[in-house]
Amino acid sequence: MIVSVQKAADIIKDGGIVAIPTETVYGLAADAFNVEAVKKTFDTKGRPADNPLIVHISRLEQLELLTDHIDQTTEKITKSFWPGPLTIVIHKKSSVPDIVTGGLDSVAVRMPNHPDTLELINQTGPVTAPSANRSGSPSATRPAHVENDFGSEFPVLEGVYPSLGIESTVLDIRTEPLTILRPGAVTAEMIESATGLKVKSAEKSSDMKRHSPGSRYTHYKPAARVEIILDKPDKMDRNSTYIFHSNNMPRSQASVYNYLGNFDKLAHDLYDHFRQADHSGHSQIFIEKLPDSQKSSIISALKDRIERASSD
Ligand code: TXA
Ligand code: MG
Repeated sequence: MIVSVQKAADIIKDGGIVAIPTETVYGLAADAFNVEAVKKTFDTKGRPADNPLIVHISRLEQLELLTDHIDQTTEKITKSFWPGPLTIVIHKKSSVPDIVTGGLDSVAVRMPNHPDTLELINQTGPVTAPSANRSGSPSATRPAHVENDFGSEFPVLEGVYPSLGIESTVLDIRTEPLTILRPGAVTAEMIESATGLKVKSAEKSSDMKRHSPGSRYTHYKPAARVEIILDKPDKMDRNSTYIFHSNNMPRSQASVYNYLGNFDKLAHDLYDHFRQADHSGHSQIFIEKLPDSQKSSIISALKDRIERASSD
């Protein structure tokens, strides 16, 4: 059920939960300082208690409610990338409830680039917002995805749909070099060139699991089996979904999608394809292997999500 900013703010101030659009994916917003409301978020998603949430803010001053450690690095990064699809992991202030951070001494924060959600957070103050999907399923990128997971009466804030379609980059800024814990639209190269700071990317970081609690759990998985293919298949099965980027395959009877090198569009559509495949009762989703990632592109984030979706 689509609701206005005013209605959404009332629900959150009353300790309720509202799905909110961001430029990446939909989030499930609750008052970050209301322990009961945050607990409700974990219960609603079926999320393990040790997988911490991202706190979303609308103004830089709100960062002071979450941390006492605003240094030059924090300033450089936030100035360059906020509002936008970059989450920073910083030392947490003791007033941030432990339930938000799964007991960690750090907190993840981002300022989303979405006018209605920023207006909402201006009224409510910081909100926790994990992706608005049942734990383990693909993130929601359309209101219909939220309703599919949580029912048609579930409140969804009005506003344009996510334009990116893949979750934010998660960057631990307490380490040197900085560590990307989850790749996203903001790449290591973009951070290095904007700030002059060194960044270690997730692929090279062997201690990723230890630092990013979420990476222990399965993610982004549709019910259909996701398989990465190297070549175009000889025959296509009508009960499968096919996603290509280099070949222009005939659409035939199968669900065949051609992206012809448009990886931004593929990122935008990926979770919708996952969800549509399940909706159509497809048992398999075949995805052409992506090329090696180029600088400043969404490819490494896409690869990360597709590999996780295809892993057992
Ligand atoms: O784009 C996004 O980030 C979306 C939208 C709604 O903003 N949110 C999102 O939240 O993807 P979620 O909860 O689905 O993923 C948050 C990730 C998880 O992998 C979690 O483990 C990690 O961020 N995370 C949260 N707090 C952390 C912390 N203190 N240290 C390390 N990783 C943290
Ligand atoms: Mg998620």
